[in-house]
Amino acid sequence: MSEIKPAGKRLLLVAACALVDADRRVLLAQRPEGKQLAGLWEFPGGKVEPGETPEECLVRELHEELGIETEITCLAPLTFASHSYDDFHLLMPLYVCRRFRGIAQPKEGQGLKWVRPRQMRDYPMPPADAPLIQFLIDLL
Ligand code: C5P
Repeated sequence: MSEIKPAGKRLLLVAACALVDADRRVLLAQRPEGKQLAGLWEFPGGKVEPGETPEECLVRELHEELGIETEITCLAPLTFASHSYDDFHLLMPLYVCRRFRGIAQPKEGQGLKWVRPRQMRDYPMPPADAPLIQFLIDLL
């Protein structure tokens, strides 16, 4: 289920993941030109497709967007974010992943940056992502 339509705006389910490396840095991805919110930095992830769980979605998206391999058992749920945009409500579960294989590559032309938790505040983020920074600072 990625979209259901309650009486008002549609609900969009997007799963996001904080990839954490051995130096406790977090990977941020910059939304490319031509996409909504272009230029803003976000936690990697994407829309949950029909029939997928958020965890399955992240395993797929991390592979497609970054060339990273991981497993569902390596994803730990951290919190939920939500934001009401003009035309949809976004619900976004955030996971943390510390065990993965491969080197993150920008498979879709996006900018990538490994940043220390407190440095994340220097990167402009979409409204749903920004409140998640404090959770990661506390966790890491
Ligand atoms: O990444 P994608 O364009 O598929 O995401 C759909 C919508 O979800 C975006 O247009 C954006 O409004 C929202 N989004 C967000 N934060 C993210 C990912 C997506 O606010 N980390």
